[in-house]
Amino acid sequence: MDSKQYLASLFGFDGQIAVVIGGTGVLGGALCDGLAQAGAKVVVAGRSQERGAERVAAIEALGGKAVFLSVEADNRDSVTALKEAVLRQFGQVDCLINGAGVNAATPYEKIPDDEWHKVVNSSLLTTHLGCQAFAHVMAAQSDGGSILNIGSVTAHIPLSRVFAYSASKAAVVNLTKNLAREYATKNVRVNVLCPGFFPAEQNRKILDQERVANIMQQTPVKRFGEPHELVGAALLLLSRKAGSFITGEDMYVDGGFTSMRF
Ligand SMILES: NC(=O)c1ccc[n+]([C@@H]2O[C@H](COP(=O)([O-])OP(=O)(O)OC[C@H]3O[C@@H](n4cnc5c(N)ncnc54)[C@H](O)[C@@H]3O)[C@@H](O)[C@H]2O)c1
Repeated sequence: MDSKQYLASLFGFDGQIAVVIGGTGVLGGALCDGLAQAGAKVVVAGRSQERGAERVAAIEALGGKAVFLSVEADNRDSVTALKEAVLRQFGQVDCLINGAGVNAATPYEKIPDDEWHKVVNSSLLTTHLGCQAFAHVMAAQSDGGSILNIGSVTAHIPLSRVFAYSASKAAVVNLTKNLAREYATKNVRVNVLCPGFFPAEQNRKILDQERVANIMQQTPVKRFGEPHELVGAALLLLSRKAGSFITGEDMYVDGGFTSMRF
């Protein structure tokens, strides 16, 4: 076996069906690319048809396979429709990433209820609905499946000005561990990846000069992450083979942010 074959057999994504909710976003897009290049057929699931089509074209240009399916990930009927469409088209689902999310930085005393709900729902409710829809499908498959939720370092180190976001990411980590226990004997692994700071759509307005300086001061590698730097960790956690004994794991990819104390 040459090294290429060894790596392919170590991770084993060839022909697998991977659904990426939030695949239209910056980090979700990089995870779609990584899964496709590792051999999976990727369902790019998100709100924007235009961005979905762009992602599918980018994956096809890399020689991978992908389709776009539209979803409002905080809406139960829409997530159910996504699940049914995936099963109709592919007959199974091996991997799920719950990677939707929006953010807002309103001062605490001024946060309107609708903003609070929007932010919390975009992370916590979408993750819950995604897990609820797909975990039992995976549990009924002979070879199970794997779920990767996207948390954040803010789940562990609450970040000023993003109260709803930090609280909802902490809840995503908690839910992940609870579901890892719940599905452990049903052949479904559930893990959470906690990125540090990666410039993307949802945090563009939040990363002002002062915040960037503070982040850099606490980031040993002294730079932002690049989306492709999440791929290795995600593939490990999702892989039925390389990650077969990993569940309930809460993995940071943060340039050392969470290990730094001044
Ligand atoms: N960028 C970072 O530094 C960072 C750090 C930690 C965690 N995260 C998390 O990574 C994930 C991806 O975010 P990103 O940074 O790539 O931002 P992004 O704004 O580029 O992508 C987020 C995507 O989620 C989609 N989305 C939001 N709510 C949705 C809903 N209800 N239904 C369907 N799609 C919905 C958006 O349309 C967008 O495509 C999010 O969970 C985010 O909280 C990002």
